[in-house]
Amino acid sequence: MPHDVPGDDAAPTAPQTFPPPADLSQNANARATLYDEAARDRLAFWKSRTALLSWDTPPTQTLDFSDAPVARWFADGRLNACHNAVDRHIDSGHGDQVALLAEYEDGSDAQYTYAQVRDEVSRMANVLTDLGVATGDRVAIYLPMIPEAVFAMLACARIGAPHSVVFGGFSADALRSRIEDAGAKAVITADGQFRRGKALGLKAAVDEALASGADSVEHVLVVRRTGADVAWTAGRDVWWHEAREGASTEHEPVMVDAEHPLFILYTSGTTGKPKGIVHTTGGYLVQAAYTHRNVFDLKPATDVYWCTADVGWITGHSYVVYGPMVNRATQVIYEGTPHTPHQGRWWEIIQKYGVTIFYSSPTAIRTAMKWGEEIPARFDLTSLRLLGSVGESINPEAWHWYRRVIGGDRCPIVDTWWQTETGAIMISPLPGVTATKPGSAQVPLPGISAEVLSDAGEPVADGEAGYLVLTEPWPSMLRGIWGDEQRFRDTYWSRFEGRYFAGDGARKDEDGDIWLLGRVDDVMNVSGHRLSTTEIESALVGHEWVAEAAVVGASDETTGQAVVAFVILREGAAADVEAAGGEAAASEALRQHVGREIGPIAKPKKVLIVTELPKTRSGKIMRRLLRDVAENREVGDTQTLADSSVMDLIQKGLAPKS
Ligand code: WTA
Repeated sequence: MPHDVPGDDAAPTAPQTFPPPADLSQNANARATLYDEAARDRLAFWKSRTALLSWDTPPTQTLDFSDAPVARWFADGRLNACHNAVDRHIDSGHGDQVALLAEYEDGSDAQYTYAQVRDEVSRMANVLTDLGVATGDRVAIYLPMIPEAVFAMLACARIGAPHSVVFGGFSADALRSRIEDAGAKAVITADGQFRRGKALGLKAAVDEALASGADSVEHVLVVRRTGADVAWTAGRDVWWHEAREGASTEHEPVMVDAEHPLFILYTSGTTGKPKGIVHTTGGYLVQAAYTHRNVFDLKPATDVYWCTADVGWITGHSYVVYGPMVNRATQVIYEGTPHTPHQGRWWEIIQKYGVTIFYSSPTAIRTAMKWGEEIPARFDLTSLRLLGSVGESINPEAWHWYRRVIGGDRCPIVDTWWQTETGAIMISPLPGVTATKPGSAQVPLPGISAEVLSDAGEPVADGEAGYLVLTEPWPSMLRGIWGDEQRFRDTYWSRFEGRYFAGDGARKDEDGDIWLLGRVDDVMNVSGHRLSTTEIESALVGHEWVAEAAVVGASDETTGQAVVAFVILREGAAADVEAAGGEAAASEALRQHVGREIGPIAKPKKVLIVTELPKTRSGKIMRRLLRDVAENREVGDTQTLADSSVMDLIQKGLAPKS
C-alpha cells in the first residue's frame, strides 16, 4: 500500500479540494447532468452511448445478463473496431489529421495521419490473411512501443482475429505460456527493441518460446527495428517490410457481432498461472470511447494527447489504441524509457509536441520527484491542460507535486481507478465537473455502480473501510477468463454473491468519496504493474538451489511496492552456493533467475536467504510477518505461528549480513 494513503486506522485530516477551472467547466465534454441521466435509467444511458461508435448494424438490445456472470451487451449490433478507430475518420473528412506522433528513444520521429494508418493497417491485415490468419484465430503480439504495435493490434481487429499482446519485457517462458494458453496461430514481433540506448532482442525470445512448445504458431511476422542479426526459420518467419511491399492498401474491415472477442490480455492473479482476460468488441469500445471522451475531455481538433503506457498493458489497449483512436485523437507514442538519454526526456517530449493531455502513473511521478523539480523546470510545459493518473493510488504528496510542478497549478488531475478486467475507467473525477481531492479516485463514473462492503457484505458507512465491489454489470466488463470459466466465477463472483469483487480494499470518506487502499489478495502492485506472489515463488522454487520461497510486496517510496523474496536453500545446494561466491552472489543469481523466468519487471528487489519461514499450524506462510521484516518494522502478532521462535531465527539470520 502506498505510504501515506490513509488506512482504515488513520483518520485523514480534511483534504483540500480543487474546484474545476471555470473555463474548463464551460467547455468540458462532461456535464454534471450525465450523473442524473445515468441515475434515471442506467441501461438507457448506456444504450444512448452506443452513438459514440459507427455500427454496421446498430444494436437494438442493451444488456442480457441472463447467463450471469457472463454479460452480453448490445449483442445484436455489428461493427468493426478498426473501422471505428480509423476508417470512419477518413470517411468524415479527417484523413489528413495526424493520428500518431511516434517518438523513438534516440530522438528520431515519424508521423502517421489517419489515412496513412489505414494504409498500413490494411496492408498488415492483407499480409495476415495471406499467412492464413482467419476471423476468430488468435494472434500474439510481442512488440516495442512503435507504430507497428498499434498497426498490429488494429490489423487483427480489422480481420476479427483476437489479439493477445504480450509486454516486450516478458521472458520467452512467459511468452510461450501465453501463446499456448491462447493457442495463437501467428506471432507479430520485431528483431529487437531499444531500451536505455541498447538494442535488446525480441525475436530471439520468440524463437526460444517456439523451440520448446507453442505448436499452434504457424507464422512469425517480424518488424525490423534494431537491424540486429536474427535467426531465421524459412517458411515460418516473414519480414514485415518485405511482405508490406507487395501488400495492397485496399482491405474491407470484417464486420463482427458486438460480442465477438476483440482481445485477450493476460494479467497476474493469485495463483501462479496468469489469467487470459477476454474482452469483446461492442461494449468494450463503447465504454473505452465514452470514458476517454469524458475523463480526458478530448477535443480532437486541438488536443495533443499522450498516455505513457505500453500497449502490453490494458492502459495501452484502452487509452492508447482504442479509446483515443475511436475519438480521433492526435497522440504521442514514445518508444523509450523516461530517463534516456536524460531525466527530462518526457518533459522534452511534452514541449516538442505541445502535449495538452498527459496520462501517466504515480510511480513515474514519484520517480520524477526524486530526480528533482529542476529537471521539468527546464522545459516548457504550458501546453498542458489536463493530467491523469492510473495504476495505484497517488499519494497526496505526489498528487500536489504533479499538479504544481507538471501542471503549473492550473491542470485538473483525474485519478482513474480501473483494472484489466474492467476494460475501461470506472471510478474517477470528471474534469470540469468534480472538485478534485488529492489521493482519492472519488466517485464511480455515470453509468457505473460501485460500493464498499464490509466482511459480511453490507455497505460500509461513510468514514469506514472495506472491499471494493461493482454491483451492476458494465459494458466493457471482462466476458471471462480464456478457457477457464470456473476460475472466472471463483475469482470475481464468489466472495460477494452476484457482485464483482475487484480484489482491492477501499475506504469511503465523510463525503462518500472512495479512497483505494491497495490489493487485499496475493497480488502485488509494483510500479503500477500487477505481479503475483505465487508466480514469483514458483519461479524461485524452480531453481535447483531453492527448497522453499515466500514473496511479499513491501512498501517502496518510488515503486509503491517492491518484490522481496525469502528463500530457504536446499541442503545439497551449500557447495554450489559456495562455488557461486557465497550467499550474496546466490541472492543475485536468484534475482536474475526470476528475471529470466518471468521478465525483468518481476525481479525481486531483494532475495533474502533464511533458514525458516513463518507458518501457521495448517502450513500457510504468514506473509504479514515477512512484510514486517521486509519493511524493517517490529514484527506483529506471532501467536498463530506453529513455532513462534521462527521470526527470531529469521531476524537473527538476516541482521549481521544485511
Ligand atoms: C490498482 C490497470 C488505486 C488496483 C488499469 C487495481 C489503482 C489494479 C488505480 C489493476 C488507482 C489501478 N488507484 N489503485 N487509480 N488504478 N489500481 O489490471 O489495485 O494492471 O486492482 O489495470 O491496479 O491493475 P491493472
